[in-house]
Amino acid sequence: MLTFDDLRSLQARSRRLHLAVSGQGSTESDAKTLRRFSSWEVCELILGINQSTFRGQLAADRSFPPGKVEPNGRQRWFSLAEVNTLRRRLTVRGRTLQPDRPAGRAFRTAFANFDAGTGKTTTALHFAHAAALDGYRVLLIDCDPQAVLSRSLGVTHVSREQTIWGILARDLVTQTAQMNAAQAGHASHAAPASLRKLGLEDLRNTDFIRKTPWSTIDLIPSCVEAAFVSFASTHYRQLDRDWSHYAALSRFLDHLPNDAWDLVFLDCPPGIGFHSINALYASDMLCVPTAATWDDFDSTTAFIGQIAAVLEELGQDTRAAGTSTRAKAFCDMRVLLTRFDSDNPEHRATRDAFGAVFADRLSQNPIQSTRALEQPGRLLRSIYEIDYREMTRDSWRSSRANFDRAWSDCHDAILPAWRTIAAMDA
Ligand SMILES: Nc1ncnc2c1ncn2[C@@H]1O[C@H](COP(=O)(O)OP(=O)(O)O)[C@@H](O)[C@H]1O
Ligand SMILES: [Mg+2]
Repeated sequence: MLTFDDLRSLQARSRRLHLAVSGQGSTESDAKTLRRFSSWEVCELILGINQSTFRGQLAADRSFPPGKVEPNGRQRWFSLAEVNTLRRRLTVRGRTLQPDRPAGRAFRTAFANFDAGTGKTTTALHFAHAAALDGYRVLLIDCDPQAVLSRSLGVTHVSREQTIWGILARDLVTQTAQMNAAQAGHASHAAPASLRKLGLEDLRNTDFIRKTPWSTIDLIPSCVEAAFVSFASTHYRQLDRDWSHYAALSRFLDHLPNDAWDLVFLDCPPGIGFHSINALYASDMLCVPTAATWDDFDSTTAFIGQIAAVLEELGQDTRAAGTSTRAKAFCDMRVLLTRFDSDNPEHRATRDAFGAVFADRLSQNPIQSTRALEQPGRLLRSIYEIDYREMTRDSWRSSRANFDRAWSDCHDAILPAWRTIAAMDA
């Protein structure tokens, strides 16, 4: 016989062992830092300006950040903060280098699909890095209890309350209190005692948001315990049927200041559970990374059908609760093939099939398989983070160009959708 007490003591033993092995909790990933970018990268790949013009402007004005020269090196290397200062201050033929940013709140994109391993986290991470190098301020939300994205950003030891779990659980507590207040004297809703004693309602929105090694990328982390909320949400809903559980993350995002971030990327766990539904409901655009096999074609198209069913259901739910008259709709959707190999006949055939179904919503720039990204374990490093001197310059360049094109395609879809939202909110 094995009761929950036995299981709990096994877990406690495992945790003690883990802490001992990782030296009181400081693991390698905690020390994650961001490299500097060479003047070649800054000019050609980041700011898009001529190298000699750049050198001329830097020499003429000593107040520009000078970057650092490495011992025995000739190039100057700039931190992300220095790159952003340069972007703010430099102009090319009277043109600013600042990215296009419609007024109003940040634009929200969810990365979701049915299966694990389709490249959701890899794509969210690369697009966040590419967007940050374009000058955007990004808020990443790790909605997956596996927390691959959190770990990949060097965020490992967070208390459960200060993760996506805390946001969802706090929502239940505060919504319950509000529903009771609205019923003046007839309080009929009760948040579970296990949640009430945590003091979640005292947490501020900023308590959930972490800095990352990228100065313009912030993160709402996840943790393994967040998986519990998926189970618990079903249980809580039985306690409180009026709780709009799918809108918790959306409510949270609506209360963030408009001008703190430009883009919000939500990395979903596989499938449609509590976290994914919250992420989808909060998002303006859906990005569906998928491998190019027939199995993935089937599961990806089935996933789209499941989202349709969920949204229809939620539409009925919100109308019944009288909370919203507008049904949830996405501004746009992108389907993105990942780990694509153009020499593989199955990949080519499924690309055509995806094209026949999704037409121009299929990104014309599939992400190719890249050796450097076949990273075993649960820590991803983007091609933007990898120093090009670690690889042959050509393979680094072509891999980076591959992600640049995929990001550019997604960005082209984001901008008009973002303008539409800005106009609606104005
Ligand atoms: N373009 C790529 N080339 C090579 N390996 C990749 C590529 N994209 C993803 N991978 C690898 O595939 C695995 C799964 O990717 P991941 O983004 O974590 O999937 P998901 O988030 O959908 O579960 C990871 O180990 C990652 O390193
Ligand atoms: Mg993932």
